[in-house]
Amino acid sequence: MAPLAFYLSAMALLAQESVAFNCSIPPIYVDIHKRVTHFTDNFQYGSFIGVGTPAQNHSLWPSLSNNQTSFGASTFCDGNSTLKDCETSTGGFFNPRDSTTFTEDPDYQTLDTAPNTTFNESLFGHDSLRLYTHYFETDGAWQTVVDNSSVEVVEAGSTKPAIVGLGTSSTLLNDLAARNQICGKMYSLYIGQGFDRAGGAVNGSNVFGGYDAGRFVDPVHKYSMSSAGTNHLNIRVKDIIISETNNANANVSLFDTTTFPSMASRPDAFDAQITTDQYPLSLPYEITQNFVSHLDADEDNTWGDNSLKLKKPFNGSMTIILDDGFQVTLPPSVLVNASNITPVQSRAKDSKEPFYLSTAFLTQVYLMADFEKQSFFLATAVQKDNMVMPTPFCPGSTPTAYQRPNQGAFVKQGLIGAIVGGVLGGIGIGICAYCFVASCRRRVAERRIEKRAEEGRKAAKMAQFEVEEVTEFDPPPKSATPFFWKKR
Ligand SMILES: *[C@@H]1O[C@H](CO)[C@@H](O)[C@H](O)[C@H]1NC(C)=O
Ligand SMILES: *[C@@H]1O[C@H](CO)[C@@H](O)[C@H](O)[C@H]1NC(C)=O
Ligand SMILES: *[C@@H]1O[C@H](CO)[C@@H](O)[C@H](O)[C@H]1NC(C)=O
Ligand SMILES: *[C@@H]1O[C@H](CO)[C@@H](O)[C@H](O)[C@H]1NC(C)=O
Ligand SMILES: *[C@@H]1O[C@H](CO)[C@@H](O)[C@H](O)[C@H]1NC(C)=O
Ligand SMILES: *[C@@H]1O[C@H](CO)[C@@H](O)[C@H](O)[C@H]1NC(C)=O
Ligand SMILES: *[C@@H]1O[C@H](CO)[C@@H](O)[C@H](O)[C@H]1NC(C)=O
Ligand SMILES: *[C@@H]1O[C@H](CO)[C@@H](O)[C@H](O)[C@H]1NC(C)=O
Ligand SMILES: *[C@@H]1O[C@H](CO)[C@@H](O)[C@H](O)[C@H]1NC(C)=O
Ligand SMILES: *[C@@H]1O[C@H](CO)[C@@H](O)[C@H](O)[C@H]1NC(C)=O
Ligand SMILES: *[C@@H]1O[C@H](CO)[C@@H](O)[C@H](O)[C@H]1NC(C)=O
Repeated sequence: MAPLAFYLSAMALLAQESVAFNCSIPPIYVDIHKRVTHFTDNFQYGSFIGVGTPAQNHSLWPSLSNNQTSFGASTFCDGNSTLKDCETSTGGFFNPRDSTTFTEDPDYQTLDTAPNTTFNESLFGHDSLRLYTHYFETDGAWQTVVDNSSVEVVEAGSTKPAIVGLGTSSTLLNDLAARNQICGKMYSLYIGQGFDRAGGAVNGSNVFGGYDAGRFVDPVHKYSMSSAGTNHLNIRVKDIIISETNNANANVSLFDTTTFPSMASRPDAFDAQITTDQYPLSLPYEITQNFVSHLDADEDNTWGDNSLKLKKPFNGSMTIILDDGFQVTLPPSVLVNASNITPVQSRAKDSKEPFYLSTAFLTQVYLMADFEKQSFFLATAVQKDNMVMPTPFCPGSTPTAYQRPNQGAFVKQGLIGAIVGGVLGGIGIGICAYCFVASCRRRVAERRIEKRAEEGRKAAKMAQFEVEEVTEFDPPPKSATPFFWKKR
């Protein structure tokens, strides 16, 4: 009797978990790239999200601190906005009067209460948000509609008003999770670098309720969110190394007192906040000074963000080492661009501002956030991605990267698989029951994603899952081919 009771209660536990979080719900993938936006005639980089009925399409910048999702009012650039190139930088203009689904809410209390982060003047209301999934430029998009969601219409401000708010009280994540449109408050981000300040070509993506398994490589590093505060994604930096591309022996630690005798002792590791609210990194004063003296940098303000500029070109990279050993390397093209601009901000000696690992850092990193369990994960981002693999992210689970096959590894895997299979065979019924539940869930998710794909794009071919044609592209082995690889 005892074993049976044990299995029954194990099944009950599994069932309970799936009641709280339905991890079969497919995630919502929203790409980030340059696109045309409502009432502007230029292309702007951001998340493809529309608002209202009929849709007014915008290009929203993901913010990890703001909670509200906001749009620039059609009058945003009239008057005194200090936003640079206002007419072509707002991410679109939203006119609530043109939307049949907009309802104003004059009593709405904004969840963005932190000082200096709110827009100067906004009106609040509810409207339909339209999250577009658009894998391939030449193909159509399909939409996920989030009806009656909170919308902030920004009438005045000095920063870009079109923001998708992904702070700890994100209205959008809350709505999606509460309405079972995603499995829970789970969110993943690759910010990309296809925008002017970064000067790159690679586009980014948001995944609500999931992650893109093709966008990062293992290992995945886990951190705890701080429970409160505007920036809840904090990590600890223990070292920063500058390397020269053509001189492997020229590595210099910005923490090293021998190289930088102006420091009396080795600096302590420091806490930094992950943010998309600025591009350049903000590092402690003495580390910044060491960067300045080692690379011969000058203060500069080409982009209004105080990024340091070098007097002469430097061909090298910068590796940021976190206290758990995770290393993130900013490659030469990011560390110094052709105009000698770096992604490191100057810093006043007495500044009390937090330290930031900001957008420049995230161009190299995939971020996966579990707001249900207050944890987040970082992994090295895959820059040249050739597939999009939205994968449900179950609260409490650890994301795993898609394993890129190579011939040798595959042969080894085959062998290991056989051995593991033999061992598992002896363990028995418990594992079988689990496997049955797991594969069942997976099949439901697979069918559901396929169905949605068909709904969205009637005569669709799934070739859109290949983002670009890359010659060095390695197809996966047939036995490991997930369903969404199949072309139709
Ligand atoms: C979980 O989500 C799937 C896919 O959306 C759905 O088919 C299923 O009915 C849901 N299960 C529960 C218990 O809500
Ligand atoms: C990024 O998106 C743009 C569209 O804004 C597209 O033209 C470009 O090819 C994309 N880049 C890559 C590397 O896929
Ligand atoms: C907004 O984008 C969607 C998806 O591409 C498109 O169907 C719709 O026509 C666009 N709306 C406007 C007003 O351009
Ligand atoms: C612009 O600023 C001036 C001076 O502060 C003020 O008088 C004027 O009302 C402002 N205009 C708008 C449209 O806000
Ligand atoms: C918004 O507020 C900031 C700081 O108070 C100010 O510098 C800026 O000029 C204001 N912008 C507008 C459009 O009023
Ligand atoms: C978002 O909400 C969190 C928690 O409710 C709060 O700590 C944070 O300050 C808010 N963000 C802003 C920009 O106010
Ligand atoms: C808000 O901004 C003003 C002006 O830029 C600055 O003096 C003040 O210290 C800021 N407050 C906070 C809490 O950052
Ligand atoms: C929209 O949401 C608001 C606040 O959540 C609620 O008061 C209102 O009744 C909702 N409207 C509709 C039409 O569902
Ligand atoms: C280097 O970066 C700066 C700031 O983003 C930009 O203004 C400049 O055009 C870039 N230079 C080149 C050659 O890309
Ligand atoms: C210097 O750094 C580079 C890049 O991080 C690394 O590949 C190389 O092994 C390092 N050289 C030494 C001598 O540690
Ligand atoms: C940096 O050095 C590498 C290796 O020699 C070379 O391929 C690359 O073109 C150099 N980059 C610049 C900007 O000089």
